[in-house]
Amino acid sequence: MIKQAIIPLAGLGTRLLPLTSVFAKELLPINGKPGIEYILDECIEAGIKEVIFIISKKKLMIKKYFYNDSFYKKIIKTKKDPRIIKEYKKLLKYKKIIKFVYQNKPLGTGDAVLKTKKFIKDNYFLMLLPDDLIIKKNCSKSMIKVHNRYKVSVMASMNVNKKNVSRWGIFKLGKKLNKKNYFIKGVVEKPSISNAPSNKAVIGRYILPKKIFSELLKTKIGESGEFHITDAIQSLIHKKKTFLAHNFDGKYLDCGTMSGYIKSSLELNKL
Ligand code: G1P
Repeated sequence: MIKQAIIPLAGLGTRLLPLTSVFAKELLPINGKPGIEYILDECIEAGIKEVIFIISKKKLMIKKYFYNDSFYKKIIKTKKDPRIIKEYKKLLKYKKIIKFVYQNKPLGTGDAVLKTKKFIKDNYFLMLLPDDLIIKKNCSKSMIKVHNRYKVSVMASMNVNKKNVSRWGIFKLGKKLNKKNYFIKGVVEKPSISNAPSNKAVIGRYILPKKIFSELLKTKIGESGEFHITDAIQSLIHKKKTFLAHNFDGKYLDCGTMSGYIKSSLELNKL
């Protein structure tokens, strides 16, 4: 069973500047609700019991958002507003399952995952990237179903326009397992158009094996000054560990870029 999820939240959010110069992108409202709450709701609905937030000292506002009890208690005492009481109760519900770990240098997703090493209990865990909202169908839940059936790692996948491949991790696909799932032969982080092995992109939902930690410990920081989870996944695939690409049914919203962020609110407003 997949009971733990991790969410890297220490990123600088440069694609959303100037909004992110003083504000955590994961708290930015998307149709009136912080992006991170959509991600938490997806986890809870998928049966996740513990969510590990990887934050940095610069993103302490995220912790504050969930730990502002004395502020709420005071307001509720004087105002007794049912809406505020409901919102506070929701925060308390989230708080019960969240744990915080720190990544104070922005060294990439690989480094962020490594910070959770001593907290992961089972052989597999879920990782969600908060820039990626998937609406209409719970992607994590579908991936957990696939994992429970085949007992392997699973990554969310979507066709993207060939000319945009350098925005994503891109899969080299192997055989089709069934209608929605493919074996993965490899994965390349943000390739150029000419180097892209396909136009199937990695979207930010991963069911990763605990083995990824030993692979991450061996990974060296690249020229960019960061190391990517994609590279550790590629090493495991090279060592014949099975990874599946799951073509999810929900609608993907890219909240990590300005145009995508704006579109996300409009899409959610239509629901
Ligand atoms: C990250 C991953 C990339 C993946 C993308 C999905 O990139 O490194 O492989 O395709 O998320 O959103 P980032 O958005 O951090 O640049």
